[in-house]
Amino acid sequence: MKPLKSVTSLNAWSALEALSQREMPHLRELLKDPVRSHSLNLKGLGLELDFSCQRINAEVMQALQELAKESSLAQQIKSLFLGEAVNTSEQRAALHPALRSIEGDTVSWSQDIARDVRVELNRFCAFAENVRQQKHLGFSDQAFTDVVNLGIGGSDLGPRMCVQALSNTHSSPQGSSSNKLPRVHFVSNVDAWALYKVVRELNPKTTLFIVQSKTFSTQETLLLASSAKEWLVQNGCPPDQLCRHLVAVTANTALALKSGYQESQIFKFWDWVGGRYSVWSAIGLPLAIAIGEKKFKEFLSGARAMDDHFVHTPWDRNLPILLALIGIWNNNFLKANTHNVAPYSFLLSHFTPYLQQLEMESNGKGVDHNMQALEVNSSPIVWGGLGIDGQHAYFQLLHQGSHLVSVDFIGLKTDSCPLSHAQEHHACLVLNMKAQAKALAQGRSLEDTIKELSQIGLSESEVAQIAGHRTFRGNSPSTSIWLDEMTPKTLGALMVLYEHKVFTQAAIWSINPFDQWGVELGKKIAQQLKDS
Ligand code: F6P
Repeated sequence: MKPLKSVTSLNAWSALEALSQREMPHLRELLKDPVRSHSLNLKGLGLELDFSCQRINAEVMQALQELAKESSLAQQIKSLFLGEAVNTSEQRAALHPALRSIEGDTVSWSQDIARDVRVELNRFCAFAENVRQQKHLGFSDQAFTDVVNLGIGGSDLGPRMCVQALSNTHSSPQGSSSNKLPRVHFVSNVDAWALYKVVRELNPKTTLFIVQSKTFSTQETLLLASSAKEWLVQNGCPPDQLCRHLVAVTANTALALKSGYQESQIFKFWDWVGGRYSVWSAIGLPLAIAIGEKKFKEFLSGARAMDDHFVHTPWDRNLPILLALIGIWNNNFLKANTHNVAPYSFLLSHFTPYLQQLEMESNGKGVDHNMQALEVNSSPIVWGGLGIDGQHAYFQLLHQGSHLVSVDFIGLKTDSCPLSHAQEHHACLVLNMKAQAKALAQGRSLEDTIKELSQIGLSESEVAQIAGHRTFRGNSPSTSIWLDEMTPKTLGALMVLYEHKVFTQAAIWSINPFDQWGVELGKKIAQQLKDS
């Protein structure tokens, strides 16, 4: 994990620098070549990645591949999947891929890990099914109608995003007498209003709280959990029955036991799972309750398929590696230091915040593995939200602002919303996503703007007064990512596409994507202020 050379001293880095100084035809010209567009469109695992609107050519792609080779990416991937201590500052493995392995897999990590993962997966899935099938009952022997997830960061963003994304697939368990599934809610913010606004609508007799925290020491989560207990007791739950309404998911089971959680309602994961990589573990319990064991396992299999693709596919067709390399080209060479993520599916409403943690908590680093200050930018600033809403808010800046912003558009090829006219709605989203990628790439030259304004009958002086305002420089790079449809498998694949993109970029920058020391100082000062 400790390369001898800094990234800027690599031959490929210098080659890329030289290429970035050379003039490349404008994207509006590049897009006229159907052969280029076709070759930059890659499909696999229910996803399609269209890189045609990126400012790349064969030479750039070749140099990026060289960069990956010179950065010993192959060796670093091997280390990750062997369970070596890739998290160098904490001297431990980052074995989240082990969470999605399946029985019978030949695994490169220890059989103990594989067995522990399977045991815990089956335990929390069985619990999820019991809740879904109304077999798990609260203090008044009523089934749970509502599940509230209390957790923050990785203990919130992943499961919250997935529950929303797969809300198109929520269905009652087979053989269930009632078609009522528990509703799943999320509270992450310690502001009392956040909790109050959820619980005031709920019946304490039928509400289950899942307290999710890897460390079981996050102040915000513990305070929320204690207020949730208070609310249950104040609303009739006998204190000795509280444990029926409380589940803990943690890597610190000793602390959960000490805090009074029942052993049978503690689900564990391990210190080698980073918070932002933990939705594949018991942290996925709210999702398992929402979609059921079968679909949860399909979700894991979609993720695992992307692991396989990442490890085995040649790099010139490797989706996460290409996404990572093009991201480095945009960030480090074209100087697009902010990256917008614009999903065009309401199901992906929470995808950008999830990705913000994955990308920026992982790769927002200033020193390399050897604690040397980085000479280049690491993670870009990742921001955004639903694209169709963004169009009417901040897309102005993308089109005509002074920053060069790269964009990932994410859309669904097909959608099965049962509402009448849903297809019309979906077509509107698809059309807009395509239009935005095209508009950002092509722009509209001053010459074309003048022509268009003249054609609609404006006089020469009128045209002269406004043409500059209506000109679009274009040449803004974007990738369009299409999911065939939203299923547990395609969602799993999409998430791991980004996980390994982040890993690949970290490998090239020679940084540790698995620690997050940057969040500690503020926590410490908050504690000092509390104690003073
Ligand atoms: O403060 C950041 C962080 O440590 C994240 O990395 C983590 O996902 C989140 O807090 C929650 O931590 P925990 O699961 O231990 O409560």
